[in-house]
Amino acid sequence: MEKILVLDFGGQYNQLIARRVREHHVYAEIRSYDKISVDEIKKEAYKGIIFTGGPNSVYDESSPHYDKKILELGIPVLGICYGDQLMAYMAHGEICSAGALGEYGKIKLYVKKSELFDGIPNESVCWMSHTDYIKKLPEGFEITAYTDSCPCAAMENGKKKLYGVQFHPEVTHTEYGKRILYNFLYLICGCMGDWKMSSFADGRIEEYKKKFKGKKVLCALSGGVDSSVAAVLLHKAIGDNLICVFVDHGLLRKDEGDFVEKTFSGRFGLNLIRVNAEERFLSRLKGVTEPEEKRKIIGEEFIRVFEDEAKKIGKVDILVQGTIYPDVIESGKGDASVIKSHHNVGALPDVVDFDEIAEPLRDLFKDEVREVGTQLEIPNELVWRQPFPGPGLAVRVIGEITKEKLDILREADAIFREEIARAHLEKMTSQYFAVITDLKSVGVKGDARAYGYTVVLRAVTTDDFMTADWTKLPYELLERASNRITNEISSVTRVVYDITSKPPATVEWE
Ligand code: XMP
Repeated sequence: MEKILVLDFGGQYNQLIARRVREHHVYAEIRSYDKISVDEIKKEAYKGIIFTGGPNSVYDESSPHYDKKILELGIPVLGICYGDQLMAYMAHGEICSAGALGEYGKIKLYVKKSELFDGIPNESVCWMSHTDYIKKLPEGFEITAYTDSCPCAAMENGKKKLYGVQFHPEVTHTEYGKRILYNFLYLICGCMGDWKMSSFADGRIEEYKKKFKGKKVLCALSGGVDSSVAAVLLHKAIGDNLICVFVDHGLLRKDEGDFVEKTFSGRFGLNLIRVNAEERFLSRLKGVTEPEEKRKIIGEEFIRVFEDEAKKIGKVDILVQGTIYPDVIESGKGDASVIKSHHNVGALPDVVDFDEIAEPLRDLFKDEVREVGTQLEIPNELVWRQPFPGPGLAVRVIGEITKEKLDILREADAIFREEIARAHLEKMTSQYFAVITDLKSVGVKGDARAYGYTVVLRAVTTDDFMTADWTKLPYELLERASNRITNEISSVTRVVYDITSKPPATVEWE
């Protein structure tokens, strides 16, 4: 399979670059600049290399640099932003601070004749974000694009197949960014485009058919996209030798547990064990109000419940994990501080007796996992499901978690989701749900005083969930949801809409 290396210098768009390459049906992998040597790059036989952007200036002592030999391998290189400057610096060009002439945002770009800009008009719009620029070109290079204030917006050494662009072709604001990447991959690197999701799914199924023949395989199924796709993929390969354990912690949305069971056990015929552990979880959570403590208890209890099931099943040969590519990438960036301890199934290997781990989706981005899910005929409700946190509704019940509050929340949440679906606005928002607060307030229902819960509706718009904006849902929709919630749920007297972005708020309330 042909491969492109995205050499990561800590830029914020490294994942986006790899995704854009894959959209052109060429497999791309991201490696941090300090975790791969020139010799390894040679061995991997990459068709091309992309240097990512980075937050630094090439003259900073702490800025990431790389072995100059990479430019002599004969493999085409495309440097983007910092990667462009780094390439110029490595080839003995000169970089300078642009001072007040730094460019940020949409900028008019003028291109000259170049294979990289094949099919692109002389004038178009690109997206820039730089404070330094290339003042003196390295020997053998020529300028192939410029802007009104940047004399070298692109450069190349065609003979050596080295290309650099100061702007970001991977972001959609660059009008012809897609075409530029296409030109690099197909015209310059000579790729053929052999990365296709249909062949990926078929290939994995065939591989597992042979590899796991007669083996006992265990998978923790949550009903989320990743574990669902992993489970169905393996089921197609090995049938009943795959045992799926679905822990229903009683913190799921309305009818969700039954839906997961019906889909996987019924429709797909998976060998599924549903563990109804609501009581266990609720009794451990009794009296607990502190968000981090709730998260910790749920994470631990999940492991204990799974451990009990694993003991009943006994030794297995393979444990399946739903790891996807963004979980695997060794990014050049430093560690971010922990805001919330996210709950996942990472600790399962400690409690299951197994020989080997299988991660069928470890090469895929989320949208690719969804594509495989569709190929495997998993229902859209699951494949396009909005993210749902591991600790479930627990992080949406403020204060002590009780069955009463959970049931109210489930109803309110279902009404809100129903109204969004009825208005066909699912695509307008990335994640939407209800929260039940610990705040009671006075209302009037049927001429009588009522004293009930306050429910919050939350909808956010985001690409990556690291930052998010609150979604401007139509007032009429909010009004309908609010009317229905207060009419249909007697113990709710007030509905409010959360208009906080992230940061400073987070998406979930706890
Ligand atoms: P926050 O609240 O951190 O949420 O802004 C960002 C995204 O992560 C989801 N989330 C979780 N996902 N386990 C998960 O798998 C968790 O413990 C967890 N907590 C939050 C949240 O729903 C949002 O999509």
